[in-house]
Amino acid sequence: MTGSLAPDPRQIKPYAKRAREDRDQMMTMLPYTQDVAKATAPLLAKVSRAIPALEWPHHAPYIEAINRLKKEKNAVILAHNYQTPEIYHCVADFAGDSLQLAREAARTGAARIVMAGVVFMAETAKLLNPEKTVLIPDLEAGCSLAASITAGDVKALRARHPGAPVVTYVNSSAEVKAESDICITSSNAVRVVESLGAAEVICLPDEYLARYIARNTKVRIINWRGHCEVHERFTAREIRDYRASFPGTVVLAHPECPPDVLDEADFVGSTYAMSAYVRKNRPPRVVMVTECSMSDNVAIENPDVEFIRPCNLCPHMKRITLPKILESLQTERHRIDIAPEIAAPARRAVERMLAVT
Ligand code: 13P
Ligand code: SF4
Repeated sequence: MTGSLAPDPRQIKPYAKRAREDRDQMMTMLPYTQDVAKATAPLLAKVSRAIPALEWPHHAPYIEAINRLKKEKNAVILAHNYQTPEIYHCVADFAGDSLQLAREAARTGAARIVMAGVVFMAETAKLLNPEKTVLIPDLEAGCSLAASITAGDVKALRARHPGAPVVTYVNSSAEVKAESDICITSSNAVRVVESLGAAEVICLPDEYLARYIARNTKVRIINWRGHCEVHERFTAREIRDYRASFPGTVVLAHPECPPDVLDEADFVGSTYAMSAYVRKNRPPRVVMVTECSMSDNVAIENPDVEFIRPCNLCPHMKRITLPKILESLQTERHRIDIAPEIAAPARRAVERMLAVT
């Protein structure tokens, strides 16, 4: 049912070439001057638990340049919780989960939005701000869920289940949203599904999120077989092993994980909900069953909590780097543009979701 997620062998050479270009860009350091050191000293103090002092001269000149340029250009940087600490804590004006980023995008007064996240997040920001410039620092920051389904697949599903509303996770392309009745995120999914008053709904593209919703509602859920390549790698056995090795560990998991992993968790929620859980309950020891940078970012804000860190990197989120954010602000390359005939129905689906929650 899903589209193939295996890389096209013809693309392997260009991927390697791009990776080498990324490395070169990272190695081209801006100078770490005394002025830069002084301007960024408070930020270094904030992130020193996550970023070794040795690395700071590499990040600081970019942080200083980005923070200066974003003011000059009336730009705002929105960062997802999976961004690395030097982005999340040092240049982001706002950081959060997908729902929070969509809400913030809808209310910002800035002329330009730089999305430190993946393309579907930048597209959602553009849908809510058609007049503004929305930039993504790397156009290839995709998502395995968004890549798992096309607009044609949605039409075929509708034909197979006439009358069932299509409820689409925001981790999807604008074209897929345009074929949908309403969007959801991991933090409002059950609420949105129940708001429709339907006996059955088509819920796509994440099979595991759909199965999580099905466990928490009486509405019949028809799913699609898309998966997050980061969360599907966790196993129930691995979680049991953490508990055995680190007694007293509280397990927090993202609903994109397989059901047997969620069965092992003490709490299931969006990235925001997981960090709010830690802030509120301050468990002495915690494991966040999600992307690596999440624990780094939350640990900085909760120094009294010990984090066990199983590490599954999202290769798409990690395409966003400080040098690319700076380049994006300087050149305004990789603007998000959505054809009006796609944007109008896709915006309706996102706005309908924002009206529910
Ligand atoms: P959240 O909305 O929970 O931040 O999830 C987004 C995402 O891409 C998780 O993999
Ligand atoms: Fe997509 Fe998974 Fe990466 Fe989130 S973590 S952006 S769902 S691939």
